[in-house]
Amino acid sequence: MKGVARTLLIVDDDTLFGEALRSELSSDELDVVLASTCAEAVRSCHECPPDIVLLDQRLPDGSGAALCPTILAANERAKIVFATALPSFENALEAVRAGAVDYVSKPCELEQIRMIVSRCLRLLDLERAESRESRRRETEARTTSLVGEEGGLSDVARLVELAAGSDVPVLLTGETGTGKSLVARAIHYRSSRRQGEFVSLNCAALPESLIEAELFGYEKGAFTGASASREGLFELAERGTLFLDEIGDMPPVLQGRLLTVLEDRLVRRVGGRAARRVDFRIMAATNVDVTQAVSEHRLRQDLFYRLDVLRIDVLPLRRRRDDIPALVRHFLSGIPGVLAAPPMGEDEIGRLKAHDWPGNIRELRNVLERAALLRRPGEPLRPSAFLPAEASRPEPESRPGVFTLVEVEARTIRDAVAGAGGNLTRAAQLLGVSVSTLRRKLTPEERRASRSN
Ligand SMILES: Nc1ncnc2c1ncn2[C@@H]1O[C@H](COP(=O)(O)OP(=O)(O)OP(=O)(O)O)[C@@H](O)[C@H]1O
Ligand SMILES: [Mg+2]
Repeated sequence: MKGVARTLLIVDDDTLFGEALRSELSSDELDVVLASTCAEAVRSCHECPPDIVLLDQRLPDGSGAALCPTILAANERAKIVFATALPSFENALEAVRAGAVDYVSKPCELEQIRMIVSRCLRLLDLERAESRESRRRETEARTTSLVGEEGGLSDVARLVELAAGSDVPVLLTGETGTGKSLVARAIHYRSSRRQGEFVSLNCAALPESLIEAELFGYEKGAFTGASASREGLFELAERGTLFLDEIGDMPPVLQGRLLTVLEDRLVRRVGGRAARRVDFRIMAATNVDVTQAVSEHRLRQDLFYRLDVLRIDVLPLRRRRDDIPALVRHFLSGIPGVLAAPPMGEDEIGRLKAHDWPGNIRELRNVLERAALLRRPGEPLRPSAFLPAEASRPEPESRPGVFTLVEVEARTIRDAVAGAGGNLTRAAQLLGVSVSTLRRKLTPEERRASRSN
């Protein structure tokens, strides 16, 4: 992306030389400003901090080197290039000591200056990209704070620290919406790999052929449509972390190939010949019962052993209800305008604590957001009004008032699908889960009776 124009300041008492350069180098990308004395240069730096400075070493009212601190104070990233009619080792050394990035001897060719200026521009672009990147990382790192230490999460917090201090594979298990992805991110940004990328792939979201191309990358012409070569996620995660979400949904063939990569750390792009060495940390997550997935051969046992070095089981929200008040505060503080509203009553928190949260923290966040969106002005927030209706069917005699979790889940899902008029997308939103998760949980009859929009 091209940003705003850069400024080139030419400080030289040879005004003809300056004018000539200005008419040659001015462009949409580059404003050229002239100064013929130190005093003019100082003024110019204050008015419009330069990005690149072409600086004559001998000026009528002082030395060019003496200007460097002023230039760098105006823009610490400014690229200073010295120009001198008396090239000598001492002069070059003085220039470098003063903070110059380059040095030309006069008289110099226009082409030479053009080349130096374009090199400086490239350097500035690179630096800008880098600082954007590091700012993006900082924001990402800040958004990985885990809320709720009181209940079951304190265990997780301890394991996150442990995992961050090591480089072993991590396997995250837990129901949908419990925060597995967030925990994986939190580990990455607390680990020594935080400068590398956190690369994540949802194995349930892509067909086999695409997962392969995504993971391994491909060379130009490897298949129809591969008009340019592309690096894969293994390569992108170099010195970082590769997070494979819904690992149980990865096609078995690819599970085998993943295992090989984890063993020899070599990756060959699709259609490529050379294998590259890669250095990444693997983390994986699944919201299905891993033991069952292994016994049903959906997850290869050998891969499972490879991944299951450090296991973090993130508890469902209904088993750490004490975290609810802190989570509510956390999510509400992220919604503009809500804190100004009348506070939520204690009875509301009680109702939220009593709910079973099949969609876990994601469902809680969604309910709060919906309540905030549909709130009447001046009235306190009532998130409990957005919870699905309580079960009201006759209770089985043998266990009065008690339902198994499976029954509760099935019932909640049925209510949500009915409430959404059979529309799965809407029902999934209500439940705070993805459509694919919802679809997996439906019986074949329910699936047939529903539609996705
Ligand atoms: N401890 C927590 N503190 C604050 N926010 C959390 C916490 N745990 C989860 N969340 C938030 O809840 C939402 C769901 O979390 P996340 O996507 O990590 O769940 P998940 O277990 O990966 O779900 P799925 O199995 O569906 O992929 C996210 O918006 C996440 O930021
Ligand atoms: Mg996830």
